Amino acid sequence: MRQAGRSLPEYRSLREGTTMLDSCVRPDMAAEITLQPVRRHRVDAGIFFSDIVVPARLAGLGVEIRPGVGPVFDHPIRTEADVDALPPLGDDYDAALEPIREAVRLTVDELATTPLIGFAGAPFTVASYMVEGGPSRDHLRTRALMRSRPEVWDRLAAWVAELSGRFLRAQVLAGASAVQLFDSWVGALGAEMYTGHVRPHSAAALARVADLPVPRIHFGVGAAHLLPPMLEAGATVMGVDHRLRLDRALEVLPAGTPIQGNIDPAVLFTSEPARHEEARAVLAAGARASGHVVNLGHGVPPDTDPQVLTDLVSFLHEQRVPRA
Ligand code: CP3
Repeated sequence: MRQAGRSLPEYRSLREGTTMLDSCVRPDMAAEITLQPVRRHRVDAGIFFSDIVVPARLAGLGVEIRPGVGPVFDHPIRTEADVDALPPLGDDYDAALEPIREAVRLTVDELATTPLIGFAGAPFTVASYMVEGGPSRDHLRTRALMRSRPEVWDRLAAWVAELSGRFLRAQVLAGASAVQLFDSWVGALGAEMYTGHVRPHSAAALARVADLPVPRIHFGVGAAHLLPPMLEAGATVMGVDHRLRLDRALEVLPAGTPIQGNIDPAVLFTSEPARHEEARAVLAAGARASGHVVNLGHGVPPDTDPQVLTDLVSFLHEQRVPRA
């Protein structure tokens, strides 16, 4: 999840003087930041240090990540002319992805047998930042664009699908062992809007890695009503946020679907017994899945005590039971 490393003093000291997005395109820095939480917490996989708007920056768009705010675009994309002016994603984009490939190679070399999860932002979530210009509570302009100018929306979302899909592919070809497509804000949509205007584009992004032998995890926040259609976008593993118990998620997903989730990040600010109780409950609720990637139900809050995370990982390892 985003911000996993942000609670670490070694992350803050390495990042000092470098903007978030600049640190993502410096291979040595991106690799080191990816490795920091793996070394410290002894998790079973690393997640590549980057951001869902890094591909847009590499394609030439003006975008920054404002601390405490999130991604902010210089020029919101709202009209047909704005979409016409998006940079073409040709060989230049491929060349611009080189620092990402290099960072993945450096990371994978050092991780040795620990897998690296690559990721990208899904078309709805990334396009929503582009249309709104920054973070938004209700994604009103984006949803209005979908309804009023569906053909303009489709061209924008198709552009993002190619942008994110090629970003995923670059990470896998450089050595990532799995991918995760984050559609963080998709929970703002009803099922009809999702299947009609969004799923085809998420499917196009995931199709860019479908020929490669890696699991494709798909995650949305507040997306309990969208789990089956999101899986149908071409995912092979469904991420579930902390709002839905994993046994409920398994009831609506086809038998045999592996799941990822979903310890409530709020327990990081409670007591050890409360954390252990939540961890046991998540393991029990996920026990019937054909595979369960244990993680938090959303991002690590920046003011989390790192020791709490290390202890939680170690507790989870103690609970591990051999699968039949
Ligand atoms: O934890 C990690 O370092 C993994 C890499 C990662 C980041 N962003 C780095 C990051 C991942 C997987 C993301 C994904 C991401 N980024 C998502 C999808 C996942 C999710 O959380 O729903 C979204 C929606 C974003 C957009 C974004 N980037 C937001 C909302 C923010 C927070 C802004 C803030 O300061 O509150 C970011 C910034 C960001 N991305 C940070 C990191 C480490 C924090 C930068 C910093 O302050 O050092």
